[in-house]
Amino acid sequence: MSEANTRLRRIRSFVLREGRLTRGQQQALERFWPKYGVDYREAPLDLSALFGNDRPVILEIGFGNGESLAAQAAAEPQHNFLGIEVHRPGVGHLLRLIEEQGLTNLRLLHHDAVEVLEHMIPPRALAGVQIYFPDPWPKKKHHKRRIVQPAFLRLLATRMQPGAFLHLATDWQDYAEHMVEALHQVADLFKNTAGNREYVERPARRPQTKFERRGQRLGHGTWDLIWRRRAD
Ligand SMILES: C[S@@+](CC[C@H](N)C(=O)[O-])C[C@H]1O[C@@H](n2cnc3c(N)ncnc32)[C@H](O)[C@@H]1O
Repeated sequence: MSEANTRLRRIRSFVLREGRLTRGQQQALERFWPKYGVDYREAPLDLSALFGNDRPVILEIGFGNGESLAAQAAAEPQHNFLGIEVHRPGVGHLLRLIEEQGLTNLRLLHHDAVEVLEHMIPPRALAGVQIYFPDPWPKKKHHKRRIVQPAFLRLLATRMQPGAFLHLATDWQDYAEHMVEALHQVADLFKNTAGNREYVERPARRPQTKFERRGQRLGHGTWDLIWRRRAD
């Protein structure tokens, strides 16, 4: 099978329902994408050149409207943050926050995170990866669309430094259990930081997200998992 066919057949973790851009989001995309956006290309990124320094880089996949990521970038100037999101209104929203808050340590990609990891993130480049409230795909026939799968975790592991953290959070118990199972299948690459427990309390460095608050209003719980990349 040709490479093009393989790509077409890939099961994606999202279905694009663009929704309308607000005027503010549209303007932010036009004005601020050239400043803070990184165009998708099938070539490895030079992260030190992108941020203008060698600080550790933390990747967030699926930042939604970006409010929690902007808050973290503001609170952690010692880190660089790279955010990936496929939903254009969310990218527009976060671009505006970056500009308003004068954040210098946050850059965005608007593309499928799996392809970004494959083609743009160099091996052992990341000091941390965070995926907060990924789409839960609750129906059993859709479970294959969940982004957290053993093959995806193996890909992530190649892009992470030894000791780098992987922080997952979900408000869907069945997905939390699925995450635990997937992580145990790659226990040669990752180690649980929670000792004998599977889950940790939400650490202070993770702000609540928009999706999390929505879940809480519906009576959902929250499950945080923090694992670390083992040394080879
Ligand atoms: C349920 S929302 C959660 C958003 C945010 N983290 C929050 O907690 O408010 C999941 C987000 O992941 C994004 N997403 C899903 N698959 C993705 C992928 N492969 N690459 C980039 N973003 C993705 C979706 O567009 C969506 O905005």
